[in-house]
Amino acid sequence: MPRFYITTPIYYVNDVPHIGHAYTTVTADAVARWHRLLGDDTFFLTGTDEHGLKVQRAAEANGLAPLEHADRTSARFREVWDLLDISYDDYIRTTEPRHATSVQAFLQTVYDNGWIYKDTYAGLYCVSCEAYYTEDDLIDGELCPIHKRPVEWLEEENWFFKLSAFTQPLLDWYEAHPDAVQPVGKRNEALGIIRQGLADISISRSSIDWGVPVPWDPGHVFYVWYDALINYATAVGYGSDPERFAEWWPSVHHVIGKDILRFHCVYWPAMLLAAGLEPPQQINVHGFLLVGGEKMSKTGLNQIFPADLVAEFGVDGYRYHFLRDTPFGPDGDFSYEGMVARYNTDLANNLGNLLARVATVVGKKCDGIGSAPRPDSPLAAIAAECYTDAAAAWQAVQPSVALDATWRLLRETNAYLEANEPWKLDPGPEVDAVMGDALETLRIVAVLATPALPNVCAEIWRRIGLEGTPSEQRLPAAAAWGGYPGGLAVDKGASLFPRIAPTS
Ligand code: MSP
Repeated sequence: MPRFYITTPIYYVNDVPHIGHAYTTVTADAVARWHRLLGDDTFFLTGTDEHGLKVQRAAEANGLAPLEHADRTSARFREVWDLLDISYDDYIRTTEPRHATSVQAFLQTVYDNGWIYKDTYAGLYCVSCEAYYTEDDLIDGELCPIHKRPVEWLEEENWFFKLSAFTQPLLDWYEAHPDAVQPVGKRNEALGIIRQGLADISISRSSIDWGVPVPWDPGHVFYVWYDALINYATAVGYGSDPERFAEWWPSVHHVIGKDILRFHCVYWPAMLLAAGLEPPQQINVHGFLLVGGEKMSKTGLNQIFPADLVAEFGVDGYRYHFLRDTPFGPDGDFSYEGMVARYNTDLANNLGNLLARVATVVGKKCDGIGSAPRPDSPLAAIAAECYTDAAAAWQAVQPSVALDATWRLLRETNAYLEANEPWKLDPGPEVDAVMGDALETLRIVAVLATPALPNVCAEIWRRIGLEGTPSEQRLPAAAAWGGYPGGLAVDKGASLFPRIAPTS
């Protein structure tokens, strides 16, 4: 059975989850669910990043010990992921003992391999990024380019990783693995950084103690980023279960935002090479979700939280919106009006109305019993094309394209009903056949859309009389035309997606 390992970034516990964090997590969740449909042995990891100065200061500001603060915020992330039906298989926290063991084993190996040395570091540091900057990187020579806040001067004795030695090995590796970073624009960005030449990087701190101790120099802790990246190895057994690790590594797919491209596409592969391991199979990098054209931030007072939108659009309505409306790769702007419009068109009209129409006609003209589809239905070929397109798009981590291909089948089925007008026909084989075709497309769509709409698709499945759930089905068999057996009672039920009035 093919293995599919997918991760989200582990989120900092200085903040509570907003729609930007949720965008990454929902995307990874939908892709994981697609791979489960394919029958892949799937492992989906998310979690929280709990060390570092930023978290330590956030805890102090709240009058809490760092771990107490991390416990609380980490729980907030879990609550939101549960609310959004995120089907993670493991939730890692970097304060767990299993992670310290793995980080120490990993970096000890890099040290033993001769890639780590001691030196003094002085530089301009942004605590929010947990990163050093040069003056040229800064806005007006003093503000962090991301947070637009003043940086601080930091000077300390550090352990350094010889990243400079990996410039050529990384270029060679990327040349041999042309699909490793997706989309291609992001790959070029990563290559651009590497081609400029890489300087060595500081990987430890002696000024703080909120971190994983450096095993060969206990006065130091690892810098939060080098602790954090290793979470992806910890969760599959690095340092504790070599057999398990060998099964899952390097077939990993990281889903990240563009803000952390450098860490994932440059530093992490280099660290892995330094530890004698393969870089990740794929890194999928998306743009920022903007609100009113701006990045969301606490200080900008423009954060939007998932629960507020779920209250209005439902969990599936929420998930569908971000997966369908924000193409994976470029930046996207969130708008409430856009969300209402998409909900009404795709969910209330195309999907909800189709089910309601079919169930009504079956109730009135077919005694409430759905028939099997016609093998030679004109919808059969369209369904096959939609499946092929959707499968290719999920494989390429392009949920918006996959869902558009799936919705094409709904649009074509609605057009087919308009053309055949079964509601005007007398009861008989013609109505039964047309309704059988429509029920079959609903069955197929319930499978194909289940990664985005797990609850609604299960409900459609039930209403058209099928046993079990769409998420238990296996592709490609479940997408093949002719699976709806007929002779099943169809339940009309209440509207799946009541229309939402657009704001004036
Ligand atoms: N802790 C590090 C990641 C370590 S991974 C080994 C971190 N955490 S974070 O909480 O700041 O999360 C950053 C990630 O959250 C982004 O890369 C992205 O996946 C997601 N997003 C946060 N805000 C976002 C938007 N406004 N838009 C889209 N995604 C965003 O960095």
